Amino acid sequence: MHASISLTKNIQADGEQSRQAVYVRCCLFMMPQGVIATAPHQAALPPELPAGSFLIRSVKFLKKGDSPMLDFTGQRIGFVVTGSFCTFSAAFEQAKKLRAAGALLTPVFSEHAAEINTRFGKADVRLRELEEICGAPAICTISGAEPFGPKDLLDLLVVAPCTANTAAKLAHGITDTTATMAVKSMLRRQKPIVLAIATNDALRASAKNIGLLMNTKHFYFVPLRQDAPKEKPASLVADFDQLCETVDLARKGTQIQPIFIQ
Ligand SMILES: Cc1cc2nc3c(=O)[nH]c(=O)nc-3n(C[C@H](O)[C@H](O)[C@H](O)COP(=O)(O)O)c2cc1C
Repeated sequence: MHASISLTKNIQADGEQSRQAVYVRCCLFMMPQGVIATAPHQAALPPELPAGSFLIRSVKFLKKGDSPMLDFTGQRIGFVVTGSFCTFSAAFEQAKKLRAAGALLTPVFSEHAAEINTRFGKADVRLRELEEICGAPAICTISGAEPFGPKDLLDLLVVAPCTANTAAKLAHGITDTTATMAVKSMLRRQKPIVLAIATNDALRASAKNIGLLMNTKHFYFVPLRQDAPKEKPASLVADFDQLCETVDLARKGTQIQPIFIQ
Protein backbone atom coordinates (compact mmCIF):
# COMPACT_ATOMS: atom_id res chain seq x y z
CA MET A 1 0.00 0.00 0.00
CA HIS A 2 1.26 3.52 -0.60
CA ALA A 3 0.18 7.04 0.24
CA SER A 4 1.31 10.53 -0.61
CA ILE A 5 2.17 12.87 2.26
CA SER A 6 2.74 16.59 2.39
CA LEU A 7 5.33 18.03 4.71
CA THR A 8 5.99 21.09 6.80
CA LYS A 9 9.44 22.56 7.32
CA ASN A 10 10.33 24.03 10.70
CA ILE A 11 11.98 27.43 10.36
CA GLN A 12 13.36 29.94 12.82
CA ALA A 13 11.87 33.44 12.43
CA ASP A 14 13.00 36.19 14.90
CA GLY A 15 13.73 33.65 17.58
CA GLU A 16 10.29 32.14 17.25
CA GLN A 17 9.68 28.73 15.93
CA SER A 18 7.29 28.83 13.01
CA ARG A 19 6.32 26.55 10.24
CA GLN A 20 6.40 26.93 6.53
CA ALA A 21 4.80 24.61 4.06
CA VAL A 22 7.16 23.10 1.58
CA TYR A 23 5.77 21.71 -1.59
CA VAL A 24 7.17 18.26 -1.42
CA ARG A 25 5.20 15.20 -2.28
CA CYS A 26 6.47 11.97 -0.84
CA CYS A 27 5.53 8.39 -1.10
CA LEU A 28 5.00 6.16 1.89
CA PHE A 29 5.55 2.51 1.24
CA MET A 30 4.14 0.21 3.85
CA MET A 31 6.45 -2.77 3.79
CA PRO A 32 6.68 -5.73 6.16
CA GLN A 33 9.74 -4.11 7.76
CA GLY A 34 7.94 -0.82 8.44
CA VAL A 35 7.07 2.42 6.67
CA ILE A 36 9.54 3.85 4.20
CA ALA A 37 9.09 7.43 3.01
CA THR A 38 10.74 8.78 -0.10
CA ALA A 39 10.77 12.44 -1.16
CA PRO A 40 11.67 12.65 -4.82
CA HIS A 41 12.40 16.38 -4.79
CA GLN A 42 14.28 16.53 -1.51
CA ALA A 43 17.51 17.18 -3.38
CA ALA A 44 16.05 20.45 -4.65
CA LEU A 45 15.27 21.80 -1.17
CA PRO A 46 17.41 24.60 0.35
CA PRO A 47 20.76 23.26 1.62
CA GLU A 48 20.35 24.92 5.06
CA LEU A 49 17.44 22.66 5.84
CA PRO A 50 18.42 20.68 8.94
CA ALA A 51 18.05 16.97 8.79
CA GLY A 52 14.92 15.66 10.44
CA SER A 53 13.08 18.97 10.27
CA PHE A 54 10.04 17.72 8.45
CA LEU A 55 6.68 17.29 10.05
CA ILE A 56 4.04 15.28 8.30
CA ARG A 57 1.08 17.59 7.67
CA SER A 58 -1.26 15.25 5.92
CA VAL A 59 -1.42 11.74 4.66
CA LYS A 60 -3.59 10.82 1.73
CA PHE A 61 -4.16 7.17 1.02
CA LEU A 62 -4.32 6.54 -2.66
CA LYS A 63 -7.07 4.73 -4.44
CA LYS A 64 -6.80 3.02 -7.77
CA GLY A 65 -6.14 5.60 -10.48
CA ASP A 66 -4.47 8.14 -8.19
CA SER A 67 -0.95 9.05 -9.20
CA PRO A 68 1.32 9.18 -6.18
CA MET A 69 4.66 10.46 -7.42
CA LEU A 70 4.11 12.31 -10.68
CA ASP A 71 6.34 15.30 -11.08
CA PHE A 72 5.69 17.72 -13.91
CA THR A 73 7.96 20.47 -12.64
CA GLY A 74 8.67 22.90 -15.46
CA GLN A 75 6.77 20.86 -18.05
CA ARG A 76 5.02 23.22 -20.45
CA ILE A 77 1.62 21.70 -21.12
CA GLY A 78 -1.16 23.12 -23.29
CA PHE A 79 -4.58 22.25 -21.85
CA VAL A 80 -7.09 22.34 -24.70
CA VAL A 81 -10.81 22.29 -23.91
CA THR A 82 -13.42 21.44 -26.55
CA GLY A 83 -17.22 21.44 -26.36
CA SER A 84 -18.06 18.42 -24.23
CA PHE A 85 -19.52 20.74 -21.63
CA CYS A 86 -20.71 18.03 -19.24
CA THR A 87 -17.11 16.87 -18.71
CA PHE A 88 -15.55 20.30 -18.13
CA SER A 89 -15.48 19.85 -14.35
CA ALA A 90 -13.78 16.45 -14.57
CA ALA A 91 -11.19 17.86 -16.98
CA PHE A 92 -10.56 20.98 -14.88
CA GLU A 93 -9.86 18.79 -11.83
CA GLN A 94 -7.02 17.20 -13.77
CA ALA A 95 -5.66 20.59 -14.78
CA LYS A 96 -5.49 21.37 -11.06
CA LYS A 97 -3.52 18.18 -10.45
CA LEU A 98 -1.08 18.89 -13.27
CA ARG A 99 -0.46 22.38 -11.93
CA ALA A 100 -0.04 21.09 -8.37
CA ALA A 101 2.55 18.66 -9.71
CA GLY A 102 4.55 21.54 -11.17
CA ALA A 103 3.28 21.83 -14.75
CA LEU A 104 3.24 25.21 -16.46
CA LEU A 105 -0.20 25.20 -18.03
CA THR A 106 -1.51 27.17 -21.00
CA PRO A 107 -5.31 26.96 -21.29
CA VAL A 108 -6.70 26.76 -24.81
CA PHE A 109 -10.37 26.77 -25.82
CA SER A 110 -12.08 25.78 -29.04
CA GLU A 111 -14.38 28.54 -30.26
CA HIS A 112 -17.46 26.55 -29.27
CA ALA A 113 -16.07 25.74 -25.83
CA ALA A 114 -15.28 29.41 -25.30
CA GLU A 115 -18.60 30.80 -26.50
CA ILE A 116 -21.54 28.44 -25.89
CA ASN A 117 -23.51 28.90 -22.68
CA THR A 118 -25.05 25.65 -21.48
CA ARG A 119 -26.72 24.17 -18.42
CA PHE A 120 -23.20 23.28 -17.32
CA GLY A 121 -22.30 26.94 -16.96
CA LYS A 122 -21.79 30.26 -18.66
CA ALA A 123 -19.00 30.17 -21.20
CA ASP A 124 -17.09 33.15 -19.85
CA VAL A 125 -17.31 31.87 -16.28
CA ARG A 126 -15.93 28.46 -17.22
CA LEU A 127 -13.19 30.08 -19.23
CA ARG A 128 -12.11 32.26 -16.29
CA GLU A 129 -12.27 29.21 -14.03
CA LEU A 130 -9.69 27.34 -16.11
CA GLU A 131 -7.57 30.48 -16.47
CA GLU A 132 -7.41 30.68 -12.69
CA ILE A 133 -6.55 27.01 -12.35
CA CYS A 134 -3.78 27.37 -14.93
CA GLY A 135 -2.62 30.80 -13.80
CA ALA A 136 -2.44 31.96 -17.41
CA PRO A 137 -4.70 33.64 -19.96
CA ALA A 138 -6.59 31.37 -22.34
CA ILE A 139 -5.74 31.09 -26.00
CA CYS A 140 -8.99 31.26 -27.96
CA THR A 141 -7.91 32.05 -31.52
CA ILE A 142 -6.21 30.20 -34.36
CA SER A 143 -3.58 32.93 -34.54
CA GLY A 144 -2.98 32.54 -30.79
CA ALA A 145 -2.40 28.78 -31.08
CA GLU A 146 -0.34 28.80 -34.26
CA PRO A 147 3.01 29.74 -32.59
CA PHE A 148 3.01 26.73 -30.20
CA GLY A 149 5.10 24.66 -32.60
CA PRO A 150 7.10 27.24 -34.53
CA LYS A 151 8.20 29.04 -31.35
CA ASP A 152 8.57 25.79 -29.36
CA LEU A 153 6.31 27.09 -26.60
CA LEU A 154 5.00 23.77 -25.21
CA ASP A 155 6.28 20.27 -24.47
CA LEU A 156 2.97 18.43 -24.70
CA LEU A 157 -0.66 19.09 -25.49
CA VAL A 158 -3.68 17.68 -23.66
CA VAL A 159 -7.11 17.87 -25.31
CA ALA A 160 -9.51 17.32 -22.43
CA PRO A 161 -12.32 16.93 -23.11
CA CYS A 162 -11.97 16.07 -26.80
CA THR A 163 -15.28 16.08 -28.70
CA ALA A 164 -16.29 13.85 -31.58
CA ASN A 165 -16.13 16.95 -33.76
CA THR A 166 -12.52 17.76 -32.86
CA ALA A 167 -11.47 14.10 -33.10
CA ALA A 168 -13.01 13.88 -36.60
CA LYS A 169 -11.14 16.97 -37.72
CA LEU A 170 -7.86 15.74 -36.27
CA ALA A 171 -8.28 12.36 -37.94
CA HIS A 172 -8.78 14.05 -41.31
CA GLY A 173 -6.27 16.87 -41.09
CA ILE A 174 -8.83 19.64 -40.84
CA THR A 175 -7.58 22.75 -39.06
CA ASP A 176 -10.32 25.32 -38.66
CA THR A 177 -10.53 25.86 -34.89
CA THR A 178 -8.18 26.97 -32.13
CA ALA A 179 -8.10 23.39 -30.80
CA THR A 180 -7.18 21.78 -34.11
CA MET A 181 -4.65 24.52 -34.82
CA ALA A 182 -3.00 23.86 -31.45
CA VAL A 183 -2.67 20.16 -32.27
CA LYS A 184 -1.38 20.78 -35.80
CA SER A 185 1.16 23.25 -34.49
CA MET A 186 2.46 20.76 -31.92
CA LEU A 187 2.65 17.93 -34.45
CA ARG A 188 4.92 20.12 -36.57
CA ARG A 189 7.52 19.46 -33.85
CA GLN A 190 6.41 15.86 -33.26
CA LYS A 191 5.27 16.67 -29.73
CA PRO A 192 2.90 14.29 -27.89
CA ILE A 193 -0.86 14.92 -27.98
CA VAL A 194 -3.02 13.38 -25.24
CA LEU A 195 -6.73 13.01 -26.05
CA ALA A 196 -9.44 12.58 -23.41
CA ILE A 197 -12.38 11.65 -25.66
CA ALA A 198 -15.96 12.14 -24.51
CA THR A 199 -18.73 11.49 -26.98
CA ASN A 200 -21.97 9.56 -27.18
CA ASP A 201 -21.27 8.43 -30.75
CA ALA A 202 -17.82 6.98 -30.07
CA LEU A 203 -18.91 3.50 -31.10
CA ARG A 204 -20.92 4.77 -34.07
CA ALA A 205 -19.93 7.66 -36.33
CA SER A 206 -16.79 8.50 -34.37
CA ALA A 207 -15.43 4.95 -34.17
CA LYS A 208 -13.51 5.20 -37.42
CA ASN A 209 -11.99 8.55 -36.39
CA ILE A 210 -10.92 7.30 -32.98
CA GLY A 211 -9.45 4.22 -34.68
CA LEU A 212 -7.55 6.37 -37.14
CA LEU A 213 -6.10 8.51 -34.34
CA MET A 214 -5.15 5.43 -32.32
CA ASN A 215 -3.12 4.35 -35.34
CA THR A 216 -1.45 7.76 -35.77
CA LYS A 217 1.93 8.61 -34.32
CA HIS A 218 2.16 11.10 -31.45
CA PHE A 219 -1.47 10.63 -30.28
CA TYR A 220 -2.08 9.07 -26.85
CA PHE A 221 -5.42 8.23 -25.28
CA VAL A 222 -6.69 8.61 -21.77
CA PRO A 223 -8.37 5.23 -21.09
CA LEU A 224 -11.98 5.06 -22.22
CA ARG A 225 -15.02 3.34 -20.83
CA GLN A 226 -18.65 2.90 -21.84
CA ASP A 227 -20.18 5.28 -19.31
CA ALA A 228 -23.81 4.18 -19.74
CA PRO A 229 -23.98 1.11 -21.99
CA LYS A 230 -27.72 0.59 -21.62
CA GLU A 231 -28.88 4.20 -22.02
CA LYS A 232 -26.16 5.34 -24.44
CA PRO A 233 -24.76 2.17 -26.06
CA ALA A 234 -22.34 4.02 -28.36
CA SER A 235 -21.00 6.41 -25.74
CA LEU A 236 -17.37 6.38 -24.53
CA VAL A 237 -15.92 8.76 -21.96
CA ALA A 238 -12.31 9.03 -20.87
CA ASP A 239 -11.47 8.14 -17.30
CA PHE A 240 -10.27 11.63 -16.40
CA ASP A 241 -8.70 10.33 -13.18
CA GLN A 242 -6.07 8.66 -15.34
CA LEU A 243 -5.20 11.80 -17.28
CA CYS A 244 -2.04 12.70 -15.33
CA GLU A 245 -0.66 9.20 -15.62
CA THR A 246 -1.46 9.15 -19.34
CA VAL A 247 0.45 12.42 -19.74
CA ASP A 248 3.36 11.08 -17.73
CA LEU A 249 3.70 8.04 -19.99
CA ALA A 250 2.98 9.96 -23.20
CA ARG A 251 5.90 12.31 -22.59
CA LYS A 252 8.06 9.16 -22.49
CA GLY A 253 6.50 7.89 -25.73
CA THR A 254 4.31 5.21 -24.14
CA GLN A 255 0.54 4.69 -24.34
CA ILE A 256 -1.00 3.91 -20.97
CA GLN A 257 -2.71 0.50 -20.90
CA PRO A 258 -5.35 -0.76 -20.91
CA ILE A 259 -6.94 1.82 -23.22
CA PHE A 260 -10.41 0.33 -22.80
CA ILE A 261 -11.61 -0.15 -19.24
CA GLN A 262 -14.81 -1.17 -17.50
C1 LIG B 1 -24.69 20.81 -23.57
C2 LIG B 1 -23.86 20.20 -24.66
C3 LIG B 1 -23.09 19.09 -24.39
C4 LIG B 1 -22.30 18.50 -25.37
N1 LIG B 1 -21.55 17.42 -25.07
C5 LIG B 1 -20.77 16.86 -26.02
C6 LIG B 1 -19.96 15.75 -25.70
O1 LIG B 1 -19.90 15.29 -24.55
N2 LIG B 1 -19.19 15.21 -26.66
C7 LIG B 1 -19.19 15.70 -27.94
O2 LIG B 1 -18.48 15.15 -28.79
N3 LIG B 1 -19.95 16.78 -28.28
C8 LIG B 1 -20.73 17.36 -27.34
N4 LIG B 1 -21.50 18.45 -27.67
C9 LIG B 1 -21.49 18.94 -29.04
C10 LIG B 1 -20.29 19.83 -29.32
O3 LIG B 1 -20.27 20.93 -28.44
C11 LIG B 1 -20.34 20.31 -30.78
O4 LIG B 1 -20.13 19.20 -31.63
C12 LIG B 1 -19.35 21.39 -31.08
O5 LIG B 1 -19.43 21.69 -32.46
C13 LIG B 1 -17.93 20.97 -30.73
O6 LIG B 1 -17.00 21.91 -31.21
P1 LIG B 1 -15.47 21.78 -30.81
O7 LIG B 1 -15.06 20.36 -31.01
O8 LIG B 1 -14.77 22.69 -31.76
O9 LIG B 1 -15.39 22.24 -29.40
C14 LIG B 1 -22.29 19.05 -26.69
C15 LIG B 1 -23.03 20.19 -26.95
C16 LIG B 1 -23.82 20.77 -25.96
C17 LIG B 1 -24.58 22.03 -26.27
